Amino acid sequence: MKSGNSIKIAFFILAFLVIGRISAQPVTIPIETKDNALVLQTDNDNRLWIVYFGDKLLNTTDYAAVSKQYSFPEGNSGIYNNAYTASGTWNLSEPALQITHADGNPSTELKYVSFEKQNETENVTLTKIKLRDPVYKLDVDLYYKVWINENVIEQWTEITNNEKADVVLNKYASANLFFHTKSFYLTSFQGEYLKEMQPVEEKLTQGIKSIESKLGTRAMLLGTPNFILSVDGPAKENSGQVVLGQLAWSGNYKLDFEITSNKTLRLIAGINPYESAYSLAAGASFKTPSLIYTVSNSGTGQASRQLQSWARKYRVLKGEGERLTLLNNWEATYFDFDEPKLTALFNDAKSLGVDLFLLDDGWFGNKYPRNNDDAGLGDWQENVKKLPHNIGYLVKEAKAAGVKFGIWIEPEMVNPKSELYEKHQDWVIRQPERPEKYYRNQLVLDLSNPEVQNFVFGIVDGLFTKNPELAFIKWDCNAVIYNAYSEYLAKNKIPQTHLYVDYVKGLYAVLQRIRTKYPSVSMMLCSGGGGRADYELLKYFTEFWPSDDTEPVERIFLQWNYSYFFPSITTDCHVTDWGKQPIKFRVDVASMGKLGFDIVANKLNKDDLVFCQDAIKNYDSFKDIVWHGTQYRLASPYENPVASIAYVNDDKSKAIMFTYLHSTRFMENATERPIGVNGLDVTKKYKIKEINLYPGAVSGINSNQIYSGDFLMNVGINPIVNAKRSSVVLEITEVK
Ligand code: DGJ
Repeated sequence: MKSGNSIKIAFFILAFLVIGRISAQPVTIPIETKDNALVLQTDNDNRLWIVYFGDKLLNTTDYAAVSKQYSFPEGNSGIYNNAYTASGTWNLSEPALQITHADGNPSTELKYVSFEKQNETENVTLTKIKLRDPVYKLDVDLYYKVWINENVIEQWTEITNNEKADVVLNKYASANLFFHTKSFYLTSFQGEYLKEMQPVEEKLTQGIKSIESKLGTRAMLLGTPNFILSVDGPAKENSGQVVLGQLAWSGNYKLDFEITSNKTLRLIAGINPYESAYSLAAGASFKTPSLIYTVSNSGTGQASRQLQSWARKYRVLKGEGERLTLLNNWEATYFDFDEPKLTALFNDAKSLGVDLFLLDDGWFGNKYPRNNDDAGLGDWQENVKKLPHNIGYLVKEAKAAGVKFGIWIEPEMVNPKSELYEKHQDWVIRQPERPEKYYRNQLVLDLSNPEVQNFVFGIVDGLFTKNPELAFIKWDCNAVIYNAYSEYLAKNKIPQTHLYVDYVKGLYAVLQRIRTKYPSVSMMLCSGGGGRADYELLKYFTEFWPSDDTEPVERIFLQWNYSYFFPSITTDCHVTDWGKQPIKFRVDVASMGKLGFDIVANKLNKDDLVFCQDAIKNYDSFKDIVWHGTQYRLASPYENPVASIAYVNDDKSKAIMFTYLHSTRFMENATERPIGVNGLDVTKKYKIKEINLYPGAVSGINSNQIYSGDFLMNVGINPIVNAKRSSVVLEITEVK
């Protein structure tokens, strides 16, 4: 009798659970931007799925029915569109989350608990979705921050360990996305030193295509965490659906693009799990970096404009502010300078008309003077032979000459030939039992160690405290991490697999301290060129150095590629002596970003100097449009012998258009056709004037003719570039 009752009770409980599940209403969570929607929905088992990624629907209630329109075959396929795929249960596809629980169990399952949406401003919403393992006390919160008008989503994850002891995060992605459509093209950006950011587009086929870095520091040297995903065909500039994104993390990253057996696409992006298992103490949370992406239904041009506008308004330090044009001495002197040489260069900077003089590498080290790149890094005291009167004297002299003063540092690094290395081998990332391996004769300091963080902060703080008028810092980072091992972590019994992650967190902590004390001084993010440029570091830096390759034709391509993701105000472009192009070509190309010079100005011939002086004045007159206006890529250097880019101001009353002939082929020596100028107002009338003319040159452009915006956008203008006029800058101004 007793047992019969228990059976009945058990039956009722089971029936209740089953009915409860069957009758549970799916929860539908739309994450909407102005034009697009990412929609998540629960099933009867309270699992959370991505059911839609596409155009925003007019009625939010319509999203609830979307999932019923898909009937992919059963089997493994059911798990493909999980909102955050955990491993160790019935999921066999690439996981976003892989955890070893406190009791050693490797399985995790995530069920929906709740969601909340806040309207932070009229343009910004933040949605948080809570998931929980029904067996283990583990919470996973998915965050989606949306900038509605810019169609930008920032997505990250927070994992909280509520178990009784440490859990190990073996893989902990920032985001797990899913796309139902059928055919996908991925553009990734690969490269090497001097060849950074080279786009490669490929059709994705079943299986996983990964883009990743294991370099630790200088993580973006060989590839970047940026991508363009195009749906149903290769990416186009002005049409088609594209997703353009970046993992904002300055260390090892991994983005997996997996085409499933249904030909759908899963994207799992985050910190590279390579040697990075992370122990999470009981009660602690881990916040992943962000995946930032924008969706456009009008091609890459619109996507870039959305991302650039978002970056300027909401992300980059002083993104809507001003920048300083400069003269840098790196290529003018390399390590060979002294006070008289430098003070003479201040006068050159003034005579050119730039705002600031930037002193590069080589100013420090006494026991081991920094006279080339194999000594001195780490010893941040002025070299008494080169600079007997210290930096303070240079700041003062620069001011007297009428320019501001900036300085180069590489604070995360050390040369084995340095006093710092002699004193603090324990601060250096190295395998104590193995031979050292150097990258540019140097090693990386261990930023997981708080003492090293203090040291790095102290370098910057010391410079500013002694020289309050210091106006600019170039922060370099020239080595990758070899022989990853931290004495600090070992001493503190923290797993070595924390090093790659804690290094980056340590770097951010130092930068946060710097920015708390010095909120607005301009700082250039440099990593030997191209090794670092991401939207986490750009919270602290005003600009970055895209590449040491300043050959201007190469630069047209490089700047074009960076512009998919970054606004011109962040992109430092210096005129140097690289290449065979005339000074006009070099200055015009550099004027498409934040302009600087790295030449021996007093060796310029008279006309070249006059040209530079005038071009800097012109730049000062239109830099507001290049820095804060809207960019339109008009003619791709990859598809044409000419390249053309325009920048348009907000009320469309003024635009600057740059056009170059980059091909040297005999039969491709001129613009045969007009180039349509995007972004103007069809109803306005415009005049066109050629500027940045070399002394004595006569423009082929009729500056008296009046064009309608309609004409310029639909017919276009021929800037008449040819072998003799290989670079043309046009100022397009509204006529009232
Ligand atoms: C690499 C940078 O990219 C260069 O501009 C220069 O600053 C050197 N480092 C100095 O060592």
